[in-house]
Amino acid sequence: MKIKRLELFPITAEVNNRNHLLIGGCDCVALLKRYGSPLYVFDESTIRSQCKEYRHEFSSRYRNTATAYASKAFISRPIAAIMKEEGMSLDVVSGGELAIAQSVDFPPARIHFHGNNKTPSELELALDYRIGRIVVDNLYELELLNGMAGKRKTRVNILLRLNPSVDPHTHKHTTTGILDSKFGIPIGTGQAEKAVKQALSLKNIRLCGLHFHLGSPIIETGPYKQGLEVVLKFAAQMKKKLSYEMEELSPGGGFPVKYVSSAELPPVSNYAETIVSNLVKLTGDLGLASPKLIIEPGRSIIARAGVAIYTIGSIKDIPGVRTYVCVDGGMGDNIRPAIYGSQYEALLANRAGAAYDGKVTIAGKYCESGDILIRDIEMPEIKSGDVLAIPVCGAYCIPMSSNYNMVPLPAVVMVNKGQSRIIRRRQKYADLMKYDVMDKA
Ligand SMILES: Cc1ncc(COP(=O)(O)O)c(C=O)c1O
Repeated sequence: MKIKRLELFPITAEVNNRNHLLIGGCDCVALLKRYGSPLYVFDESTIRSQCKEYRHEFSSRYRNTATAYASKAFISRPIAAIMKEEGMSLDVVSGGELAIAQSVDFPPARIHFHGNNKTPSELELALDYRIGRIVVDNLYELELLNGMAGKRKTRVNILLRLNPSVDPHTHKHTTTGILDSKFGIPIGTGQAEKAVKQALSLKNIRLCGLHFHLGSPIIETGPYKQGLEVVLKFAAQMKKKLSYEMEELSPGGGFPVKYVSSAELPPVSNYAETIVSNLVKLTGDLGLASPKLIIEPGRSIIARAGVAIYTIGSIKDIPGVRTYVCVDGGMGDNIRPAIYGSQYEALLANRAGAAYDGKVTIAGKYCESGDILIRDIEMPEIKSGDVLAIPVCGAYCIPMSSNYNMVPLPAVVMVNKGQSRIIRRRQKYADLMKYDVMDKA
């Protein structure tokens, strides 16, 4: 029997003859018994195959490409170790993400540091570790970095993050490339030109190239083409006016993933083709040298690999209105539906192939009416104690998690070839009190 929603799950997902969902050869019901509920399960094969697919699709079209995993989607020491093994570069946006990279000896040259307000201590850390590139977001940072590098008698390699004023048609909270954004130096206002001039004049700065990131997820390829046109035309002007030759260019990340069965998205190859063909054509037409291309997929590397598994508890049926099916997690481990209206689908991991019986709403356990994970989804008849598996929870769920209501965070396990290993232990109540200070002065 074909189970439609199974295609959303990791590439190793299957249903066994007991009608249980298996990921990486491991029975999800057994995983829940062993590690407790709720549980986040990551499939190693899916992570590695996504890394390979992105590297292949871009590098086979344009050899001089670096594929940088955007750590913010989900980083932890075991994930950073996998990225290192897969030959990925790494984008970090904080001292914390950088510290994780450092802890697994991630090659510093392959690390890029983003962010619109990096603190001096974060920049110190980056300079200490001699990371590959700092992606400078504004003039304040440019001056700060120049001063810090000067004190160390070193020259720091940077990219400038530009704002091309291109609308990627994402949720407004995840749009970054429009003019009215806190990210990037606007091209249209003349500020980007000023920043390039300034970067070129600073003794301790080496301007390696330009960067833009439009938003996420970008479900069409058009915005990348528009962004490239704006930024490459700008690069050509800088060449003419300032004799500046850009060596590196990044169109950021933002590649989409399929969260629900009805979504129809262009394949990775279309994004690679659009970006590479436009880069090659535009640099040729504009008389620019071919830059190194840096892409920054985050969500699209890790989202499909992660599955959130919950136990169903209370079920509230309001006749003629709605049935609320409540799980033992919710907005504390997955805030995305509450802040972005993100949509998900689900399967019962203990009766994966059961026929649908009607619509229910999956609610979390947190004290907020907005703590709804999935609204109005067709499901089989559900009983308390059933096991619910929500696919595509690998990106921006655990990293945005919180201890709201003092609920401990779930454990995270990695599965591969029938084996499971814990990669983040479940929080205990003692962890919630660890930072409280009771001593009186
Ligand atoms: C500069 C930059 N690059 C890459 C990404 C990754 O985006 P995604 O996870 O959608 O690929 C982000 C996300 O916010 C970003 O800000």
